[in-house]
This record gives sequence, structure tokens and C-alpha cells, in this order.
Amino acid sequence: MLNKIKETFCEKFGKDGEILTFFAPGRINLIGEHIDYNGGCVFPCALTIGTYGVVRKRNDKTIRCYSLNFEKEGIIETSIENLKKEDKDNWVNYVKSVIWAFEQKGYKIENGFDFVCYGTIPNGSGLSSSASLEILISKILIDLYNIDVNMVEASLISQFAENKFIGVNCGIMDQFAIAMGKKDNAIFLNTNTLDYKYAPVNLNGMKIVISNTNKKRELADSKYNERRSECESSLEIIKKTKNIDELADLSPSEFEEIKDVIQNETWVKRVKHVVYENDRTIKAYEYLQKGKIEEFGKLLNESHKSLKEDYEVTGVELDTLVEISWQQEGVIGSRMTGAGFGGCTVSIVKEDCVDNFIKNVGEKYKEKIGYDADFYVAEIGDAPKQI
Ligand code: GLA
Repeated sequence: MLNKIKETFCEKFGKDGEILTFFAPGRINLIGEHIDYNGGCVFPCALTIGTYGVVRKRNDKTIRCYSLNFEKEGIIETSIENLKKEDKDNWVNYVKSVIWAFEQKGYKIENGFDFVCYGTIPNGSGLSSSASLEILISKILIDLYNIDVNMVEASLISQFAENKFIGVNCGIMDQFAIAMGKKDNAIFLNTNTLDYKYAPVNLNGMKIVISNTNKKRELADSKYNERRSECESSLEIIKKTKNIDELADLSPSEFEEIKDVIQNETWVKRVKHVVYENDRTIKAYEYLQKGKIEEFGKLLNESHKSLKEDYEVTGVELDTLVEISWQQEGVIGSRMTGAGFGGCTVSIVKEDCVDNFIKNVGEKYKEKIGYDADFYVAEIGDAPKQI
């Protein structure tokens, strides 16, 4: 694949000059969903699938980009003097967003570049193809222009790009998980303090299976922003009676004591999810450390129920996939992962049951939903790098 990307680069942009190759992973979240914008703890890991980019610095201000995933779009040409979101720039808006964010944070990018990329993350799967591209561009800017920014800072700059340029009010989880990924480890991240610990993922002979609903995440962005503002409004109300900075500061018992002040049934459910999901994530980290995989799996199941009933971000495709998965032999736990409304589930499956799992879940999902799901056995990958 790398050869094909390099060949395409030379074909589109010529082969002279120094050409560099980079890779940034995708991510999956084991548990801790929709709490990274509420100061909660999350538990994601980087994947070995991700985005490859081949790049060469230019002497002028032009940026030329070509994606092997969007060949029909052809070469999209823009300039570092035109860092505005424009429909015609399509996926290149993500490239522009990161350059814009670096400049906003005071890092001057003097020259443009030529860029070819190829992503192995299925599009719209909720495995963070956009954050992967953002972090890839961050890494390229850092290396190409010798910018003194570490990868934690790069994740914050990329999140800023997504929030303020793209207009999705995401938390820090995706960009952080990708920027700081470590092979065979999940990252236990406190999104309030950005303290983090690596946790080796030893599943005692079990595999992490990713199942893709293949339902495109339409409307996901507006629903996502809606959930976020419901949480913000609830926090404002709670702050009048309790001294907290973030919803995830509440323990489950504190939540039960003060929940009546919220006075909006829907918002009570949203806050309930946040508080209990944070509690589950802390426990999940501890269980994984102690090798208590069955207990870990049960928390995954509870997380899904909460995302379905209280946070209401699942939908028939995700629920069907998870419910069928729960019925399979050798399944320790299964839940939706990422923003929801489509995208993927994560299941912990005994290694010798994986083939049957894929076969049975695939058949039953198609029977009920009418189209195929896709399955990948996850491999936990490393942070972005030059290759
Ligand atoms: C998306 C966002 C993340 C996080 C998840 C839900 O992936 O980008 O910041 O909020 O949804 O946990």
C-alpha cells in the first residue's frame, strides 16, 4: 500500500525533492463514552488501522492535496493564506483546520506542501478517521516546520481545530488517544486534568472484535452538539446547589441526592449516564489491571444499556448488533463505541469463538437490518510516526 501511495504522489506532484511518509492511527474506545466533555475518565486505545500521508514541502503558500479514498474529488488546491472552511475543499477542510489552529496558537506556517493520503479506517465508522487525519497533519507540521509542540499539545490543537473550524464540539478523547497511542495498551485518561496512565490490554486469550453497523452517522454531529449542550445546561443548574466544576465530579450517591434539582426528566437521564459511566470506567480500568475480564465485560454491557436508555445515542442498528452479540457463545461484553447513532460496536470475545461470532452475528444482523455488518479483529497500535 505504501508503494501505491508514494507512486500516486510522484504521479500527481512529481518525484523531485524530499518526500516524507507519515502514519497516524485510528482509535476505539473501550469504555467511558460521552464523558470526555464532562470532565470524566475515558479508556480508549489507538488502532493499527489509520491514515498514511506522503508529503513534500513547497517554497510558496500553495497546498495541494489528493486522497486515494476520494479519488473523484481529484487534486484539491488551496493556500495557507486562505484558511477558511469552504464546501469546495471537501475533506481538505480538515487539513486547513489544523494549519489554522496551529497559527491561532501562535505557530507560523510559512510554506505550503503537496500531500497524498490514504486511510484504512472505514469511512463513517466512528473509528475517528477525521481525528486521525487531524493528528497526521499535526505530526507533519511539527516535523516539517520544526515546531516545538509535544503530542499532548498537538492533540489539544487538533481538538481546537475540530471545535472552532469544523464546528463539532468534540471532547479531547479521540485526538488524545491517537496522538498518545501505545502498542498493546489502552490509555486511561482523566479528561479534566489530562493525567493519563497506560494499561496493558491482557485479555487472557480474548480478542477485541469491532463490528461495523455500516449505518452512516447522519445527523450525528447535530445530535452530538445537542447532548453536549444538555450537559452544559444541567451543570449550570446543579452548580447553584453543589460546588462542582464538571458533571463527572459527582459520585453516584451525590447524583442520587441532588438529581431532583435538575427538574427536567431528559436532562436527569443525561447526567445519570455521565456520572455512572465515569464510575464504570474507573472500575473497568481496575478490573483490567487485575485480569478480571468477566467483570470488565459486564461493565461494557451496562455502558451500552445506559447509552441506549439514558443518553439515547444508539439507534436500531447499534442496539441490534449489540443485542445479537450478547447472545453469542464466548462473548464477555459488548457495547457501542464512539459518538453513536451508527458506527461501530466493541465486543470482547473468546479467541476460539471469534469465527462463529462473526458468522452468526453477521447473518442475524443482515436478517434484521437488511444489509451487512463488517467485522475486524482489533489490533492496538502505536502513536503517529514518520515511516
Ligand atoms: C466522539 C467525540 C469524542 C467523544 C465521543 C463519545 O468520538 O469526538 O470526543 O465525545 O464521541 O464518547
